[in-house]
Amino acid sequence: MADNVILLSSPPTRFVSNALERSFSGEWVRIVDPWKTDQPHLTIEDISAEVRGIINCSARTLIDAEYMKRFPQLRLISHHGVGYDNIDASWAGRHGIIVTHTPDVLTEDVADLAMGLLLATVRRIPQADRFVRQGEWAAAPFPLSSSLQGRTLGIVGLGRIGRAIARRAEAFGVSILYHGRHPQTDVRYKYFSDLKAMAIACDVLLVSAPASSATRNMIDGPILEALGANGILVNIARGSLVNEVALADALANKTILAAGLDVFADEPNVPDVLVSSDNSVLLPHIGSATLRTRKDMAELVVANVKAWLSGDGPLSPVPE
Ligand code: DGY
Repeated sequence: MADNVILLSSPPTRFVSNALERSFSGEWVRIVDPWKTDQPHLTIEDISAEVRGIINCSARTLIDAEYMKRFPQLRLISHHGVGYDNIDASWAGRHGIIVTHTPDVLTEDVADLAMGLLLATVRRIPQADRFVRQGEWAAAPFPLSSSLQGRTLGIVGLGRIGRAIARRAEAFGVSILYHGRHPQTDVRYKYFSDLKAMAIACDVLLVSAPASSATRNMIDGPILEALGANGILVNIARGSLVNEVALADALANKTILAAGLDVFADEPNVPDVLVSSDNSVLLPHIGSATLRTRKDMAELVVANVKAWLSGDGPLSPVPE
């Protein structure tokens, strides 16, 4: 049987490498890893004509039409992550290339991290930690913070992760509002078709919507102004949904109270104005970064390739 050449378009996680080793020992699948440092240098051009599948483990690898055109035999892209805004899935779909991602397995961990950011910003936990370490406690008590209980959370994008966050927040005595393209009939949370109206009505705006041209910069100056001086922004989705210049201004001018961010527009670069702000909590995109979830994501990435190779169709294709 001819080789099925699968290219690693970015360095694989160790769990993906392990799962690949376990799954594809036969000679009918050839995994090409140009990132291995102990191998003679291999360029993507060397194997581009043979590549049928791509495994992509980085949200920062841009897989646009130009990239895909280099691989005339390409039929599958198995992406490691739930968000796939780095891949032009619509071009892929029009050209017979299936794109898969890793939903569900990371939902609970990302929702936990969102709660962490919510608590950290509302109760000012990182600032309190710095206060102790810097020896300020003896001189004065730490300034009082707000309560989480009784506050209103406006969720932008009530998908799997948004819903998991809502469930957790309700247990903390928080009321839930949501904004999205359509109201969802199976939830009792209040729906807002107008994002600005929801920003006015909530205390914390939590971004958990997919990145697309429609959502780019949707959290801009007027939305932050509507959130108001006691408002908090939490983003666990993608940095591109928030206008970072407007956010930095809003934090500096105290137009909003605080922000908790796991994602940035140009990762791993974080604008200096955000790094130097005292009223923000900044994390290095760790929503899904737990051992269990990263193992599960790797298994699903490889299981998608296996299912496709066996002719069963992929397990978790991206939505049409
Ligand atoms: C993803 O997988 O897209 C998320 O960013 C995880 O944090």
